[in-house]
Amino acid sequence: MKPEDHNDDVTSGTYHSLDSLFSRGRIKEIDGMKVQVVTDEFWTSRQRQACSLHEISYRACFKPQLPRFFINIMKGKVGMVFDPFMGRGTTMIESALNRVTSIGIDINPLSEILVSPRLNIPKKDEIFRRLRQIDLSENITADMDLSMFYHRKTEKELVNLRDYLISRREDGKEDAVDRWIRMVATNRLTGHSSGFFSVYTLPPNQAVTQKEQKRINHRTGKVPEYRNVKEIIMKKTVSLLRDFKDTAQIELINQTGVSSRLMTGDSRQASRLIDEESIDMTITSPPFLNVVDYAKDNWLRCWFNALDVRSRQSRIFTTANIEKWNFFIREVMKQIFAVTKNNGYVIFEVGEVRNGKTNLDEHVLRDGINEGFKPLGIMVNVQNFTKTSNIWGVRNHTKGTNTNRLVVFRKLR
Ligand SMILES: C[S@@+](CC[C@H](N)C(=O)[O-])C[C@H]1O[C@@H](n2cnc3c(N)ncnc32)[C@H](O)[C@@H]1O
Repeated sequence: MKPEDHNDDVTSGTYHSLDSLFSRGRIKEIDGMKVQVVTDEFWTSRQRQACSLHEISYRACFKPQLPRFFINIMKGKVGMVFDPFMGRGTTMIESALNRVTSIGIDINPLSEILVSPRLNIPKKDEIFRRLRQIDLSENITADMDLSMFYHRKTEKELVNLRDYLISRREDGKEDAVDRWIRMVATNRLTGHSSGFFSVYTLPPNQAVTQKEQKRINHRTGKVPEYRNVKEIIMKKTVSLLRDFKDTAQIELINQTGVSSRLMTGDSRQASRLIDEESIDMTITSPPFLNVVDYAKDNWLRCWFNALDVRSRQSRIFTTANIEKWNFFIREVMKQIFAVTKNNGYVIFEVGEVRNGKTNLDEHVLRDGINEGFKPLGIMVNVQNFTKTSNIWGVRNHTKGTNTNRLVVFRKLR
């Protein structure tokens, strides 16, 4: 969706409130309770593309159309949106595009690095000017072997850029332009095209180990070629901002961004970070029920940003145990309840039914009720797609369906 098109969402235009949406549902009995379940293609492939500003990859992010759907239904009625698991900031960016202020929390420090520059967007000319000024020519190498990912000259440029960003931060001189450059560089570290700094590797939101990358190079017969770090950052900058007609549109995002807040922290302590009863609507998706090795996922991005991957990853919640997962969700629900205004809404996206048997939506429903919320019902968004994927050089045309299950609650006292 281009910024100027935020009013013409086809599907949500046919629903006038979240409460009335559920009047079209069927009844499902869960724990002796009658729960409304509505199934539809609520956000569709027919709708306009998401704004280019969203195009920062992140593990398990949801589509911008999801928060857009709810923001559009509630247009004019919500002042403050919250995402306790902000990730790449899909909820926050979509809120800002619709001139709605938001608060985001994520325990992964990379999240703030990826979100904050898009809520305080510098001018393109300033980014380009700064890039031209930064000296990337000093003959230095990384403090570890990165030769399986980068050409010698690319590595030199990257290490120079890393040192520049670290010193700007340490000297208290880091500004919005530096933060933008840091975000784009973090996003371009590894990937599968010449738009990234690295040789062909796995999709950009998962970095493999040095050993695995050597195996990939062996299998694909590829060696790292020189990639111009500044040019790649400029190109991605142009691409992220391509949907903005002029700087006035960017200014509108920044005006909302200034009053939005993002924090690196644990959402189990959200009520210490956010005022009580200050949130109109929470739109979120929690960590999934599986064990993710965040240290392995994030090591290169943490290296680039001088973050301690080990200490952080121990705090990113991950479990495949449903009891532990429920306990975690209940703790967060308690916090969301405390910060939600009376009559406010909570939208909790849990993905698909797991292995055809674990209905996470039903678990979330119980957890929310337990913490005091009134359930409006369960939404099942069914989306048909045809996509062309190119995995390991093989082209596939895949037809299929994507299903998202969401539980919607209201705080009513
Ligand atoms: C499914 S992702 C959310 C993705 C997000 N909806 C987006 O579109 O990018 C879950 C997020 O929860 C974060 N997380 C895990 N444990 C957390 C905790 N205790 N407090 C806050 N965030 C946490 C992870 O770092 C991850 O970014």
